[in-house]
Amino acid sequence: DEKKLKKFYIGSIDQGTTSTRFIIFDGTGQPIAQHQIEFSQMYPQSGWHEHDPKEILTSVEQCIEKATQSFIDQGHDISDIKAVGITNQRETTVVWDTNTGEALHNAIAWPDTRTMGLVRELKARDGADDLQDICGLPLSTYPSSVKLLWLLHHVDDVRKAYDEGRLSFGTIDTWLLYHLNGGKEKDILITDATNASRTMFMNLHTVQYDDKLLDFFQLDRGKIRLPKIVPSSSPDAFGSLTYGPLKGIRIAGCLGDQSAALVGQQGFSPGSAKNTYGTGCFLLYNVGEKPVISKHGLLATIAYDFGGKRKPVYALEGSIAVAGSGVKFLMNNLGFITHSHKISDLAASVDDNGGCVFVTAFSGLFAPYWIDDAKGTIFGITQFTERGHIARATLEATCFQTKAILDAMELDSGHKLAELAVDGGMSNSNLCMQTQANIIGIPVDRPAMRETTSLGAAIAAGFAVDLWKEFDELKEINQKDRMIFEPNISREEGAKMFKKWGRAVDMCRGWLD
Ligand code: G3P
Repeated sequence: DEKKLKKFYIGSIDQGTTSTRFIIFDGTGQPIAQHQIEFSQMYPQSGWHEHDPKEILTSVEQCIEKATQSFIDQGHDISDIKAVGITNQRETTVVWDTNTGEALHNAIAWPDTRTMGLVRELKARDGADDLQDICGLPLSTYPSSVKLLWLLHHVDDVRKAYDEGRLSFGTIDTWLLYHLNGGKEKDILITDATNASRTMFMNLHTVQYDDKLLDFFQLDRGKIRLPKIVPSSSPDAFGSLTYGPLKGIRIAGCLGDQSAALVGQQGFSPGSAKNTYGTGCFLLYNVGEKPVISKHGLLATIAYDFGGKRKPVYALEGSIAVAGSGVKFLMNNLGFITHSHKISDLAASVDDNGGCVFVTAFSGLFAPYWIDDAKGTIFGITQFTERGHIARATLEATCFQTKAILDAMELDSGHKLAELAVDGGMSNSNLCMQTQANIIGIPVDRPAMRETTSLGAAIAAGFAVDLWKEFDELKEINQKDRMIFEPNISREEGAKMFKKWGRAVDMCRGWLD
């Protein structure tokens, strides 16, 4: 059976916050060929974070070329690649001219906090309190809606295009599809339900745009083109690649990266959860076919929508803005390390955090706190403090926020998680994962192959073209050599550390610009 499975391949475009990859998986879920490119992060002002939409597209094209070349060099045949999936950083907002297809501004990336003042104004607007029940998201600097409003208010070209009815809006999935599948020529804009659920324009219950939401943001649908919302797995909704070495191959899956990671971890049953430590860190908890609107600071979102006779599946999500980006900060801004993976060694050079707590609130604090005006703050520094302590405190910050999210999730769902499945770059650090287990007091379960986000997009694409028909057929995938981290400190010790973190969070509020 394994032989038969290996005979087909699926390509996966993973367009993340700091890098783009293209991975070709075989039918057993093993990566066969891959290429990764980091692209420019632009921080034009404190709190601002932009990407060049063109550079993002080029990085995708180059990754496809390079990985495909390596696939061919290994003696494989392109005709065995049966489909391509796309997964992407969510919320990041792109606007372009419908007539020319040219972007009208840099993309505003999801961690950007320039909309802090705007969010305050919006919160005071009539109807603000009803939004979360409809779309699942609280008003904050995080979703696409506020980024689009900022562009409309501050960029003349964007406003003009809107007034003249030639403004197109999309998240990264839409932007990529528009170019890759010839949507530009055919004038078609597409997004999948998971990505659309991050905009604040989609009604979570109907999985369609909602006029009440659009009215709240004072958007006139006659003046702006919004992408059509389709399921995340579909044989025909996304078209085919129209150029490059994989020209003609169907794009059959598309989903936001955190949804893809849940699929890649096979979190298909209600009650399963995963935590992905990427640029940020995102915990998704499958709640089944009905959304649960959080009362404790979490988001409600579409987990995945496999279309056909399958209903959309929902998740409760805890979003942490800073995880790997905290490590990058220590490397790029403070020169603590020369390579991200060296963080673990630096953290291990000391026994503990030496009394340091680092609230890595570079984008304010997201779930479950939602403190827009928090700024990154290190507490507890003395003459004793070394780089190692700060490295440790940086890793711990994500672990503490994960603990706060799990507590909120327990309150929202009435269910305590027994074990946490993890993936993403920072999960490579044994020290970080052990710390995570210690702080949450339950085992942490890490797969050997940690490209689960890409794998999830490949799975969505594979289902659409009938390479698999039932989730059960996947159950062997990525199960070998998983590593379990059992908590090895007492509950009291863990609780003491977490209490200190809570105090630090209270003290980092109110840094108004
Ligand atoms: O919501 C933002 C998220 O999709 C970004 O994911 O992996 O690039 O941190 P990542």
